Order: sequence, then structure tokens, then C-alpha cells
Amino acid sequence: MRDYAAYQARVEQALPDMLRSLGEIPARLLEAMDYSLEAGGKRLRPVMLLAACEMAGGDAEAALPFACGLEMIHTYSLIHDDLPAMDDDDLRRGKPTNHRVFGEGLAVLAGDGLLNGAVELMARAALSRQDRRGLQALEAILRHAGVTGMIAGQTADLAAEGEAPTEEKVTYIHRHKTADLLMAPMEAGLLLAGAEPEKVRAGGEYGMHLGFAFQMTDDLLDVIGDETLLGKKTGMDAARDKMTWVALRGTEGTREDAAAHVAAAIAAVRGVPEWDAGFFVSLAESTLGRVR
Ligand code: IPE
Ligand code: IPE
Ligand code: MG
Ligand code: MG
Ligand code: MG
Repeated sequence: MRDYAAYQARVEQALPDMLRSLGEIPARLLEAMDYSLEAGGKRLRPVMLLAACEMAGGDAEAALPFACGLEMIHTYSLIHDDLPAMDDDDLRRGKPTNHRVFGEGLAVLAGDGLLNGAVELMARAALSRQDRRGLQALEAILRHAGVTGMIAGQTADLAAEGEAPTEEKVTYIHRHKTADLLMAPMEAGLLLAGAEPEKVRAGGEYGMHLGFAFQMTDDLLDVIGDETLLGKKTGMDAARDKMTWVALRGTEGTREDAAAHVAAAIAAVRGVPEWDAGFFVSLAESTLGRVR
């Protein structure tokens, strides 16, 4: 297994080629898609997918279309999340948001294009295999990104604006808008490696707990983070009266709860004796201290 930076570099290198392998994309649309895709995200989800695949003895190169597809889906979710009709944000990944540069119409289409393009890439990769693992990975990614997953969470996030927080509602929001997209790479990477169902479940559990800790930290960073490091404006959740973990539990309570999820994530991945889980243990441990 490699380290985070090595997986990240592989993703950075592959992404532009993957996008262009779709065929002739209208120039302005390609520019808008590239703008957000190449804006310097952490590449957390594709890195997790490649690392999970290798941890279970799979081939990371064959997993690349799925890693890139998932990053494209995540990026589309950010473009749409920033639209005036949703969170109405002006800064993302240290640059003006997509709709600020390209206008709302093209931003919607760039998001649509990244989602559809991701599915095309992953479907082609699945078709080129003799086994059914590619299809299984595609199904897992689309389910976690879909109307019972990330889109469901985003729906709840919007509906909860201005409401008094309840643990049940914030839990639903975090579980779906964020944790689902961190379960997806674990399950897809493991499925591509041909891991047994109980291992795929353990990986999914890791992703779920990491997802909770990740979004709790995101909510904290919106209050106490440094805008220049974060690459997005702080104070936006309070301004929009978002139902965040901090609104529910305060900053100290949020830190405690995030630490509990980090511990649960580590326990899940350590629970599989065959795995050399060091990569995922360090990843979980670094989540609470992240500044971007
Ligand atoms: C931002 O995700 C959206 C959340 C789920 C909090 P990331 O923090 O992974 O954003 P990038 O990809 O690094 O920009
Ligand atoms: C975004 O949650 C989750 C998705 C885009 C699916 P947030 O709205 O908290 O993310 P940021 O803070 O804008 O990155
Ligand atoms: Mg949002
Ligand atoms: Mg947002
Ligand atoms: Mg946020």
C-alpha cells in the first residue's frame, strides 16, 4: 500500500484524461467541469477507494475509473451545493464558485455533466471486465450517491434550515449528505478487490463513522476554521441557520462526538485481522485535526 500523497498524485494525473476519454465535450462545458474538478480538492474519496482496493489485495489501476468517477460525483455535489438555490456560496476550493464564474445555467449543466460522465466512465470500466465486480462497485457508488444516500441527505439539509436542531435530524443529515459518500469508496474498493461481504460491511462501517467525524469537523471548521486554509467562507452555516452538529451540541460537544466516531471507525477497520489497516487508522486519526 502507498501513502495518501501517492494515491492523491495518481488521481490528479488520471482525472483530466478520464474526463477527456468521454469524447468531444463542448468547450465551455468542459472548461466549467475542469474548473471545479481541477480546483485542488483533497481527493479524499478516490484516495480511500484506491487504498481500500489495495488493502484487500486488489489492483488499484483497474480501480481508477471508479475512483475518478466518485470524485466527479463528489465535485458535482459541491457545484450544486454552492448554487444560490442551495447554500449560496461564493468560494470553493479557494476559488470563486462555479456559478460565480460560469453562471448558474452552466454550473447546473457542469454538475449534470460530471454526474453523467462519471456513470459513463464506470459503466465502461465495468463492461470491460469479465467478472461482475465492476457492476457491484458501480451499484454501491450510485446507491450511496443517490436518492436514499447523498441526495436524500442534501434534501434533509435544505428542509432543516431554520429549524431547531434535534439529534435525530442532524444524524440523518450527516449520515446521508456526507457519510454515504465516504462509505461508497470503502465498499466499491473492496468489491473491486473481491472482498467477502462481511469485509465489505466492515469497510462500510469505517466509512460511515469517518463520515460522521468528517462532517462534524466540517461543521466545526465553519465556526472556528481559517478561510484561507479552508478555501471556503466560514460562518455560512450560522448565516443560513443550518442544522449542524455544532448547533446541536456546541463546539466542545461536537469535538467529543467526532472523537467517538473516529474511535469507532478505527475499531471497524481493525476488526478484520487480515487487513494491514495502518493507512486507514492514520487517516481517521488525522480527521479531527484537519484544517481544510
Ligand atoms: C466538502 O468535502 C463537503 C463535505 C462533505 C463536508 P471535502 O472537504 O472533501 O471537499 P474537497 O473535495 O476537499 O474540496
Ligand atoms: C455538503 O455539506 C455536502 C455535500 C455537498 C453533499 P456542506 O454544505 O456542509 O459542505 P460545504 O461546507 O459547503 O463544503
Ligand atoms: Mg450544504
Ligand atoms: Mg455547503
Ligand atoms: Mg459545511
